[in-house]
Amino acid sequence: METQEQVLTMPRIGDKAPSFKAVTTQGDINFPQDYAGKWVILFSHPADFTPVCTSEFMTFASMQGEFEALNTQLVGLSVDGLYSHIAWLRTIKEKIEYKGMKNVEVTFPLIEDITMNVAKTYGMLQPGESTTKAVRAVFFIDPKGIIRTIVYYPLSLGRNFDELKRIIIGLQTADAYSVALPADWRPGDDVIVPTAGSCGVAKERMESTDADQTCYDWFFCTRKLPKEKVDALRVK
Ligand code: BEZ
Repeated sequence: METQEQVLTMPRIGDKAPSFKAVTTQGDINFPQDYAGKWVILFSHPADFTPVCTSEFMTFASMQGEFEALNTQLVGLSVDGLYSHIAWLRTIKEKIEYKGMKNVEVTFPLIEDITMNVAKTYGMLQPGESTTKAVRAVFFIDPKGIIRTIVYYPLSLGRNFDELKRIIIGLQTADAYSVALPADWRPGDDVIVPTAGSCGVAKERMESTDADQTCYDWFFCTRKLPKEKVDALRVK
């Protein structure tokens, strides 16, 4: 007998993003190949014409320029069909005014997935939550097509968009400067230097007089990384 674990695949951090072809509100896509060289946020939502999803789409769309400045493409998905997607996005633009956002046009692709193929491949269907609707999954995929972060929210809780943006900035900063980032890191905060890999380096670190570096102990050292250096990673 097949167990639930055998039926449901769950890509993991570090895996290559599974490829698929799909129909979207912006035409056909070949994922992730069409976005090679960009960061991608692939996210699922439970259903069109629902309130939490509407608030999220308006927020994603209103932040699209900020994500583009981070070389990041948004790609949405739900298990609804194309015409439902089109009708919902038209309603959002024409009728919904919410928290100062109005006339919001969603120009990033929204995948139709009535077969649930993509949702199943990406582990977006989590039967304990719903067997018919995708959870609010967010996959952060790097320019080489590797999954770098995965965040899941349940049906009842809208995503935190500050955090989604912080994740992209954090991943790009960690890559560009070969550092790690401490709890609640924000651009301008100190960053963590790689842990000393030898007794010699551990000693050097503890005896260092470098004013830009702080060592709490031999294995936990931070250094300054000015906000301008993080902002410099933006493409525009
Ligand atoms: C919503 O987006 O409002 C929603 C969708 C599915 C279940 C519960 C809420």
